Amino acid sequence: MFQNDLLQGKRILITGGGSGLGKSMGRRVLELGATLVICGRRETVLAETRAEFDADFPGRTRAIPCDLRDAARVDALVEAIWEEGPLDALVNNAAGNFLARTETLSPRAVDAVLAIVMHGTTYVTLACGKRWLAGQHPGNVLSIVATYAETGSPYVVPSAMAKAGVLAMTRSLAVEWGGRGIRLNAIAPGPFPTEGAWSRLVPNEAMDRAWMNKIPLGRVGEHRELTDLAAFLLADGSAYINGEVVVIDGGEWLKGAGQFSLMEALSDDDWAAMKGR
Ligand code: HXC
Repeated sequence: MFQNDLLQGKRILITGGGSGLGKSMGRRVLELGATLVICGRRETVLAETRAEFDADFPGRTRAIPCDLRDAARVDALVEAIWEEGPLDALVNNAAGNFLARTETLSPRAVDAVLAIVMHGTTYVTLACGKRWLAGQHPGNVLSIVATYAETGSPYVVPSAMAKAGVLAMTRSLAVEWGGRGIRLNAIAPGPFPTEGAWSRLVPNEAMDRAWMNKIPLGRVGEHRELTDLAAFLLADGSAYINGEVVVIDGGEWLKGAGQFSLMEALSDDDWAAMKGR
């Protein structure tokens, strides 16, 4: 889809880059010539991913353990990165989420999700943003949200609140910082199975089949489809896109919203009878 040097010379931080979609995006930006920093909570996961990346792209990945809920650690992480030079882009990918009936959530459960997704994302964005502004260096922030950032969703309420907050941050700072060389965009992915999210969000096979019925294209997303969208938004060629959220979900959320979507259950005979009436 792209020339292999699309991201040559770019230095990119992907939070939660040790696993899942973050790892897939990391591999793709390396393929396209970038150098990469990944951070995450689990040191062994990060080390394994870095070793994997080093085997294919020697010496181009740095891995730094960090829990984004801790603002001081986030600042130390970003400071350590900047000691070797400024980043060109930040991908806010790290997230935490689980399915639960909302009335059963403890305060700690609410805090766990809000602290990672909303506070953590804000801490990293500010830590990078203030350094970009001080150094008059251009910056690019890409945040992974969800289609329910716009619609809300039952059973993932703290995540929906936090993702809505990240989207509001994206749109707000796109205006506040856009004129000073920093642009911000978001991607709202539909179902892109990963071990971390899927084991938490799709509890059994019946639910897995129900998911397929929600998606007009009749399939889940392939990681490559999402990582190429991310690469496009990280590349200089998309420089005029600022404050946008790009949905990539096979039409899933629109199918949920469309008033007559349920008519797909009608048979040919039903349609003929309707026409006759
Ligand atoms: C109810 C739960 C729970 C569950 C945890 N808690 N899981 N409550 N239902 N399923 C409660 C705990 O009981 C505890 O509260 C509190 O949350 C903190 O739990 P801990 O396990 O101590 O916290 P922590 O180790 O920080 O882990 C929490 C987490 C975890 C980060 C949210 O689930 C996690 O590590 N997730 C991995 C990352 C992840 O979720 N990725 C998927 C993101 S998908 P008490 O009161 O009991 O102490 C996404 C978008 C999906 O964001 C879009 C799909 C289309």
